[in-house]
Amino acid sequence: MKEVLVTGGLGFIGSETVVTLIEHGYHPVIVDDCSNAKEAVLERIETITGFKPSFYKIDIRDHQKLHEVFKEHSFFAVLHFAGFKAVGESVQKPLEYYENNLGGALSLLRLMKEFMVKNLIFSSSATVYGNPTELPLLETMERKEATNPYGETKIMIERISEDYVKANPEWNVILLRYFNPIGAHPSSLLGEDPQGIPNNLLPYVSQVAIGKRDHLTVFGNDYDTPDGTCIRDYLHVLDLAEGHVAALKKIEEKPGLEIYNLGTGHGSSVLEIIRAYEEATGLKIPYEIGPRRAGDVPVCYAGVEKAKKELHWEAKRSLKDACLDAYNFQKRNPDGIK
Ligand code: WQD
Repeated sequence: MKEVLVTGGLGFIGSETVVTLIEHGYHPVIVDDCSNAKEAVLERIETITGFKPSFYKIDIRDHQKLHEVFKEHSFFAVLHFAGFKAVGESVQKPLEYYENNLGGALSLLRLMKEFMVKNLIFSSSATVYGNPTELPLLETMERKEATNPYGETKIMIERISEDYVKANPEWNVILLRYFNPIGAHPSSLLGEDPQGIPNNLLPYVSQVAIGKRDHLTVFGNDYDTPDGTCIRDYLHVLDLAEGHVAALKKIEEKPGLEIYNLGTGHGSSVLEIIRAYEEATGLKIPYEIGPRRAGDVPVCYAGVEKAKKELHWEAKRSLKDACLDAYNFQKRNPDGIK
């Protein structure tokens, strides 16, 4: 069994990917500092898969402790999910974001170099495209300046990876640009578990659905889109997890540096998401129209041909399935994972 290091492996996307990796015969080793994830996720992974991965509760910037992990295992590849991810918070706390996200990535790269682990898959984001002037967004389009420090750290880590592969051509790095991951594991054991008031649309809608919040505020209905609300490319987190397994297969071909969008190729508006959620659950989601949120782009969706052709991957699950899975997770874990 191939051992893979998964940083941030207890988080929303990391944990689903760990489950998918186990199901595909990989042996994930998790490193997570639990700053935004619960240790209980580990038992839930075991309940789903029957396998308990090795877990180290450490900050990846702790060189000595991470060194021990590399010494104890023989990694075929690293999947790097760990990082702070709240856009608004990153504007308030830029130093923390740069320190944590860049410091973490550099610490990891240094140890990969020392232990000659030459394969890396990095969680990047559609945010690197900035405000789209042309759609769909393609991997060949240039990166724009980010509107917030969180996005800037994604751009910087992409650049660092590119420079590193240029200097070390025997290395392989796959940058996966996620669009909007939603949904949860169908078992309702794993899902998005935000602390406090959710920033993202789906967790907010789910909290309204179970009566934890009384209504959703739609951030603006005066955009230049068919119904006036913003359009995003929402994909089921399990499809996204499978995208990582596809990338791991690709990395065996020693591709050097490659970039792939992981999205569905289709955009949905905020009002369409509300409707899909209502249809999936049979519930009514009360909402009000509020002002625009600073930094939101009107429309964003992925070009998915490259991932289809080269990774043999595409998103298969429907929006309704994702909404139902998100709802079931929220219902079963009204106060998050304990
Ligand atoms: C989606 C749409 C909102 C909440 C962000 C990051 C991105 C990635 C995912 C992750 C927008 C609208 C939202 C609400 C609303 N980061 N909305 N009411 O902004 O596309 O992407 O999260 O780690 O990098 O930028 O996702 O879910 O916040 O918003 O109307 O209460 O829902 O305006 O149009 P976004 P989102």
